[in-house]
Amino acid sequence: MLTLIDILQQSRIIPVIVIDKIEHAIPLANTLVENGFKVLEITLRTDCALEAIKQIANSVPDAILGAGTIITPRQLSEAKAAGAQFAVSPGLSEQLVAETKKEKLAYLPGIATVSEALLAYELGLTALKFFPAEIMGGIKALSALSEVLPSLQFCPTGGINLDNFINYLKLPQVPCIGGTWIAPRALIEKENFTEIALHAKEAQRKLQTIL
Ligand code: 3PG
Repeated sequence: MLTLIDILQQSRIIPVIVIDKIEHAIPLANTLVENGFKVLEITLRTDCALEAIKQIANSVPDAILGAGTIITPRQLSEAKAAGAQFAVSPGLSEQLVAETKKEKLAYLPGIATVSEALLAYELGLTALKFFPAEIMGGIKALSALSEVLPSLQFCPTGGINLDNFINYLKLPQVPCIGGTWIAPRALIEKENFTEIALHAKEAQRKLQTIL
């Protein structure tokens, strides 16, 4: 089993993906993996999301798959059974943290405040999704959070895009960021994988500037 930190260190950007049609799952995953994005979060917000995880897990072996928008224990076990290697939630729930420990599944829950981050710390978590990052105060808020909880690492998500992602990645407590901008739902729906590949290449080009 990969640990959460292992996973977050594999890729500095985690595309957050909403798949509406199952036939888009494999071409999309191939497009992202071929362009250097192997850690992918498939959100459980659509009917075909679990099937998408299953198909990608079987057909795109280089992908490291996460199931996102997990809000119930049942979704956790379904995601694991489908082949997800990690789970992501928009918020923090003690019940879900306990379930992920039972399931032995790497887990990235969301927090937005110091109190939530403190609770996560007390629960033994070491890396958290900072969500929704831009609305909750962006880099300034995240820096203030890290001042008081310096051992935590964060994956900011929510409002991150090509123009601001580098500034987040320059923070020492940020191994990676997440976002939908590389593979927006509308482009997936139009099967415009060429445009998605261009987004991915542009992001990779910018990433090179901070290596
Ligand atoms: C998520 O589920 O993490 C968010 O929807 C991603 O936010 P974004 O669309 O602003 O990237």
